[in-house]
Amino acid sequence: MFNNRAAWLMGSKNRPLQVKSAPYTGPRKGQIVIRNHATAINIIDWRLQDLGTSMMYKWIKYPCVLGSDVAGEVVEVGPQVTRFKFGDRVVGQAVGKDEKRNSDAEGAFQLYVVLLDHMASPIPDDMPYESACVLPLGTSTAACGLFQEDQLGLQLPSVNSKPKGETLLIWGGSTSVGSSAIQLAVSAGYEVFTTSSPHNFNYVKKLGASQVFNYKSKTVVNDIVKAFKGKKAAGAISMASNGTERCMDILARCDGKRFVSLAAYPVPDKIPAHFPMLQTMFMFLTRSFVYWFKSKTMGVDYNLIFATSLVENGVGKAIFEGYLPQALENGIFLPSPEPVVIGNGLESIQTAMDYYKTGVSAKKVVVSLKD
Ligand SMILES: NC(=O)c1ccc[n+]([C@@H]2O[C@H](COP(=O)([O-])OP(=O)(O)OC[C@H]3O[C@@H](n4cnc5c(N)ncnc54)[C@H](OP(=O)(O)O)[C@@H]3O)[C@@H](O)[C@H]2O)c1
Repeated sequence: MFNNRAAWLMGSKNRPLQVKSAPYTGPRKGQIVIRNHATAINIIDWRLQDLGTSMMYKWIKYPCVLGSDVAGEVVEVGPQVTRFKFGDRVVGQAVGKDEKRNSDAEGAFQLYVVLLDHMASPIPDDMPYESACVLPLGTSTAACGLFQEDQLGLQLPSVNSKPKGETLLIWGGSTSVGSSAIQLAVSAGYEVFTTSSPHNFNYVKKLGASQVFNYKSKTVVNDIVKAFKGKKAAGAISMASNGTERCMDILARCDGKRFVSLAAYPVPDKIPAHFPMLQTMFMFLTRSFVYWFKSKTMGVDYNLIFATSLVENGVGKAIFEGYLPQALENGIFLPSPEPVVIGNGLESIQTAMDYYKTGVSAKKVVVSLKD
């Protein structure tokens, strides 16, 4: 029906992505298809390309279409979809790499993408696609950690929530996940303490954090414990593997919930130059042991997030259908961080992935997919 093209990952640890034709897949029940106008890159995209699937995502078959974040225009709606119609401007999470779906038609790095209608939200007319597409995976990861029963189990956000009288610690507020976590937690009525580098203090405060601490400071743990005096902790969410241990140290010394939700897995921040798999595995095992040991000795529980778990447990629907449409329209929720647009066209996705690997600070790496 439409001429589709995708940036294909052709095999394990293969590069560069190859841009070529892809089947156009129409929507089934509860799905929409969008013409993708902008996509954002996530850490998992370049990790999967560099490390392959022997440790994670073992169900992926090659060639495959990666990517999670899309913003574009609805071109087709499937049976029983009432929220969207042809021409609507939307943002959504492409969940094709989830084990239960494992579908290339639902990968973000292509021109026509199949989305679940409850994992998409309308966006305001004046919001550029490049701004909107920074949102999906960061927001979903944050929502899994904050609102799922097996994670922090906080109250859901709304555009007119009441203060809950509890304070949440967000380790890594200037990350993409952290930027969404701050806004979601504030919208749910929680006070937020967060960490970032000093040059991002104003940024995280504008998103709603009441206090911010430099995670590189030697006194950061004591400083945060002091700030929690007289407050009730709602737990913590960690966006940095070395932040997790500190969150445990802090919560063990505070009143309130002793639970850390782990967005960051205990793996190296950058792909190691030598023996990458061995070093990644070694760090995973040693850090996991440290978490387990601290948890047992300090009485602080934790759980790893898997950012597509919200697709079927009601949290995804509560966020993309229940909260975001109104929050985006009212400007209560701002797609953050700011996009850095690396280029236009599927051919720019490999360059964007390589750019991201060199590191970002409160920025999301984005590719435009205009005609
Ligand atoms: N579990 C899942 O399903 C899932 C899904 C998505 C992401 N994640 C994970 O969540 C984490 C965040 O991902 P992201 O895409 O949001 O990251 P990102 O935006 O690429 O993170 C960049 C930011 O990391 C901050 N940072 C670096 N080291 C830090 C540390 N030790 N403590 C606190 N902040 C630190 C930097 O802050 P400053 O510039 O202020 O220094 C920088 O702004 C990653 O570990 C990622 O793999 C997990």
